[in-house]
Amino acid sequence: MTKKQYSIAIDGPSGAGKSTLAKAIAKELGILYVDTGAIYRTIGYYLFCHKLDPKKEAEVMSVLPQLCIEMKYEPDGLQHMYLDGKNVTKEIRLPEVSMYASDCSAHGRVRTFLLEMQRRLAREQSVIMDGRDIGTVVLPDADVKVFLTASSEIRAQRRYQELLDRGTNKAYEEVLAELIERDYNDTHREVAPLRPAEDSVIVDTSALDFEQSKQAVLSVIREKVRL
Ligand code: DC
Repeated sequence: MTKKQYSIAIDGPSGAGKSTLAKAIAKELGILYVDTGAIYRTIGYYLFCHKLDPKKEAEVMSVLPQLCIEMKYEPDGLQHMYLDGKNVTKEIRLPEVSMYASDCSAHGRVRTFLLEMQRRLAREQSVIMDGRDIGTVVLPDADVKVFLTASSEIRAQRRYQELLDRGTNKAYEEVLAELIERDYNDTHREVAPLRPAEDSVIVDTSALDFEQSKQAVLSVIREKVRL
């Protein structure tokens, strides 16, 4: 298929390497990278700061419509998140925010509220979008769908290293336990649970390094889109 505009959906569990790979592929192909987890993290961060319960849908929905959540692509080429005018790109990566993001993302009304914002981005330009339900719900007609995964232990090891590089020394066992809990949460929720779309290609990166993973995903893309 030769297309002027196309969309690539990358779904998978946390720590599978979706964002690092998607970011690199976006740069190589000259298309927009959209990290949808950052939107849920921004909401999670607000709930965390205001001591609101992310498990209560009514509590989340009572504040969500009033929040100003913006995604801005700045000269560094990265997606920055703004909450009520404040740049929260760094804060949303705090480990404490991850479970808040996962818990608030389980609510159907929260997901519906964010759907249009994500779809609009893909209507306006070629995108590579990563998340949990991009191929199944957000962009069911995406030209390419990849389900990126790796064993829990490998993903936890990568996350442990990432935290260490950022100066957070957390025990590997704790990182693994949290990852398994979040996987459970994301795959067992009733609305838009994490699962591979029927027409997705599963790429397991357990035994692959970054460059090999990138080439594996690029070859899936090349099979579907003539670049
Ligand atoms: O990709 P991430 O780890 O930054 O995402 C944080 C949480 O947001 C994740 O645990 C589940 C939720 N999420 C989602 O439900 N749907 C998406 N498309 C992206 C993320």
